[in-house]
Amino acid sequence: MTIIVKPLLKWIGNKYRFADEIVAHMDGEIETYFEPFLGSGAVLAKLAASNEKHFKKAIASDILDPLIEIFKYVKSDPKTLIEHYKMNIEGYNVDKKAKYLEIRNRFNETRNPLDFAVLTRTCYSGVVRFRKQDGYMSTPVGPHKPISPEEFQRRVYSWHELVKDVTFLKSDFKEIMSKAKAGDLIYCDPPYTHSQKILYGSQTFRITDLWEQILKCKQRGVKVILSINGKCKSKQKDISVTVPEGLFERGVDVNCGTSMVNRLQRVGEVMENENVHDLLLFTW
Ligand SMILES: C[S@@+](CC[C@H](N)C(=O)[O-])C[C@H]1O[C@@H](n2cnc3c(N)ncnc32)[C@H](O)[C@@H]1O
Repeated sequence: MTIIVKPLLKWIGNKYRFADEIVAHMDGEIETYFEPFLGSGAVLAKLAASNEKHFKKAIASDILDPLIEIFKYVKSDPKTLIEHYKMNIEGYNVDKKAKYLEIRNRFNETRNPLDFAVLTRTCYSGVVRFRKQDGYMSTPVGPHKPISPEEFQRRVYSWHELVKDVTFLKSDFKEIMSKAKAGDLIYCDPPYTHSQKILYGSQTFRITDLWEQILKCKQRGVKVILSINGKCKSKQKDISVTVPEGLFERGVDVNCGTSMVNRLQRVGEVMENENVHDLLLFTW
């Protein structure tokens, strides 16, 4: 049994649909839980909300600094985050585009995480995209009506309860994974596919570095779970990542649903029988 957790940030490629099932595969008692590719934190939140699974400590990290700073506000200063959202969303719908561009320009100048939180809620489908050459956030405005300040406040306070025992760090995955010890569990949801390369400033990610880190963790007795997104096209699997032999001991298929990245890239095309599923791989 888990409490329902509503997403705080809109984030493409999030794991909300799969989170219950992913958490179901985790140990009941975890020493330290690591989530080195945090994104919007769907899996962390589900785990923290679970009545059956527990961690003594959790370290949640991501390479994207303003993202981690949002979570720090959620944990230590929710009021400031709520106030900032309220101030920017009141009157937002009068001229969405102009207001959105004002916030986006300000964010691109100052990298203020409070603005970044508003942008994830208002940008086009949560496609948080940065220009490669200068890190400029380039996502256009979303056509939708953003959630109300009252709803945002409810979500912030429910997340505030969930993340009390979580430490948030801005870090590259290599550094953080090297700190895990025997008895700890790491859940990895990296940005592999070419379609995700433009997202979240992840251009520098190299899958071979991840294989190396996972192997080292496994050798130290750290348990690692890895999510792999694949397509299932008319039941044919197409996993675009080649996994090193012997690194994982087993795998399970998690659910199916329509991929948002695919949907965005194929506007106007008919999508038949094309779904994403998540493959979970385990080092034990
Ligand atoms: C697929 S998303 C994770 C989505 C997350 N599971 C959720 O539910 O929202 C991948 C994340 O990895 C982060 N990332 C990319 N390169 C990284 C790196 N070298 N080290 C740590 N995090 C990185 C991105 O900023 C992004 O937030």
